[in-house]
Amino acid sequence: MLHIGRNLDSEEDVYINANKSRAVLICGKRGSGKSYTMGVLVEELFKTRKAIILIIDPMGIYHTMSLPNVEQERQVWEWGANPEGLPVKVLVPGDPVHRYGGERIVAEMERRGVRFEQLKLNPSDVSPEGWCDSFQLNINEPMGIAITKAVIKCQQKYGRDFFISQIIERIEFDTRASDTTKDALINRLEMAMTWDMFENSAYREVWETLDPNTINILDLSTLDSGRYGRRPLVVSVLCRDLFVKRSIARRKEELGLEAEMPKVWLFIDEAHQFIPSGKSSLSKEVLIQWVKEGRQPGLSLVVASQQPSAIDVEVLSQCDVILSHALTTAEDKVALNRLTKDYMAGELKTYINKIARTGQAVLVDDDTENTSMVQIKPRKSKPGGSEF
Ligand SMILES: Nc1ncnc2c1ncn2[C@@H]1O[C@H](COP(=O)(O)OP(=O)(O)OP(=O)(O)O)[C@@H](O)[C@H]1O
Ligand SMILES: [Mg+2]
Repeated sequence: MLHIGRNLDSEEDVYINANKSRAVLICGKRGSGKSYTMGVLVEELFKTRKAIILIIDPMGIYHTMSLPNVEQERQVWEWGANPEGLPVKVLVPGDPVHRYGGERIVAEMERRGVRFEQLKLNPSDVSPEGWCDSFQLNINEPMGIAITKAVIKCQQKYGRDFFISQIIERIEFDTRASDTTKDALINRLEMAMTWDMFENSAYREVWETLDPNTINILDLSTLDSGRYGRRPLVVSVLCRDLFVKRSIARRKEELGLEAEMPKVWLFIDEAHQFIPSGKSSLSKEVLIQWVKEGRQPGLSLVVASQQPSAIDVEVLSQCDVILSHALTTAEDKVALNRLTKDYMAGELKTYINKIARTGQAVLVDDDTENTSMVQIKPRKSKPGGSEF
C-alpha cells in the first residue's frame, strides 16, 4: 500500500493499493503539484523494493530526489518523517558531460549523490518506423523504403547483432535505390552515429541498465522534443524491451522457474509528449500496449499531464486511479468526467471545484470505488523544478 496523504474530510490516511498492476493518471493545471505528487508515489513505492522504478523525465527535474527536502522540513516533521535523500541513478542518452554541457555540472550532480549511466540503444531494437521517424521520412517514399529494406535485411542476416555501419553497408548494396537516395540516407545514418546514442560494437540488454535498488530516472531534457524528436524513439525502444522481457519473466514465474526481472512501475511526467491524443507518436503504440496488456506481466503506469484531454484516450480509459489537482478548462473537466464510472457520477466535478490549494487533489480509485479529497503528503526528498 502506498501512503499518499490524508483525507481532507475524515482526516484518515489515504493509501493506493500497489499489490497489483495499476494505471494512474495525475492531472491538474500548471503548478498544481503533479510532479510533486508523482514524486510522492515514487518515494512510497521505493520503500517496498518490489519493483523496478523508472521515471521518464522530460524536464530533467527528478535528479534532486538524491537530496533531502530540507526546504520543507517542518512539513515533513509534522507528518512524522524526516527529510531524506534517496539513491538515484540518472540514465542519459549519450555522454552526460557532453549532454549537460561540461564536466563541472556532472561533477556537482555526482557530489549531490546522483549516479550516471549512459543509455545506449541497440540499433537492432529500432524498428524501420523508428528510423523513419527519427529522420522524418515517409515509409512509402524512396528513402523510407530503402531504410526499411536495409533494416529487414540486417535482421535476417545478423539477428540482433548489427549496428549502424551494417545498415549503411546494406544501403550501399541496394540495387533499386538511386544514388541520391542512398547518399541522403547514409548522411543521416552517419549523423545518427554522432548522436552518441547507439551501441556500435555489442548488443546490450537495455533493461539491465535499470537498477531495482535505486530510483532510475531517464533524463530526456537534453534531447530535442517534438513529434519527430528523439525522445519518443528512446522511450519506445526502452519500453518495448521492458515489455518483452517482463512478459518472458512472467511466463517463467508461472512455470515455477526463476525469473531475473522484477515487475516494473513506469512513471511518465509530461505524458502528452509520449501519448498525445489525435496525433501519432513513435512511443504511443507500445505505451497503449503497456496499459492494455501489461497488467498480467506486472507492468504499471503512472502518467502526469496538465491536460487530460491531450492524452490519448486509449490510455486514459485504462486508468484505474485518477489523482486530479485543480483544473481550469472546461475541456479538461469534460475529458476527466468522461472517464468516471457510475459510482462517482457528479462527485468528481464538485470535488474538483472545491480544491483550494497546491497539494490538494481528488482521488478516484476503482479499487476501493471511492472518491475523496486528499491532502498529498510532503516529500522526503527534494522536489525539483520549482520556478524562481
Ligand atoms: N503536496 C505538496 N506539499 C507541499 N508543496 C507542494 C505540494 N505539491 C506541490 N507543492 C509545491 O508546489 C509547486 C508546484 O508543484 P509541481 O512542480 O509539482 O507542479 P506541477 O503541477 O508539476 O507544475 P507544472 O505544470 O509546471 O509541471 C512546487 O514548488 C512544489 O514544491
Ligand atoms: Mg510538473
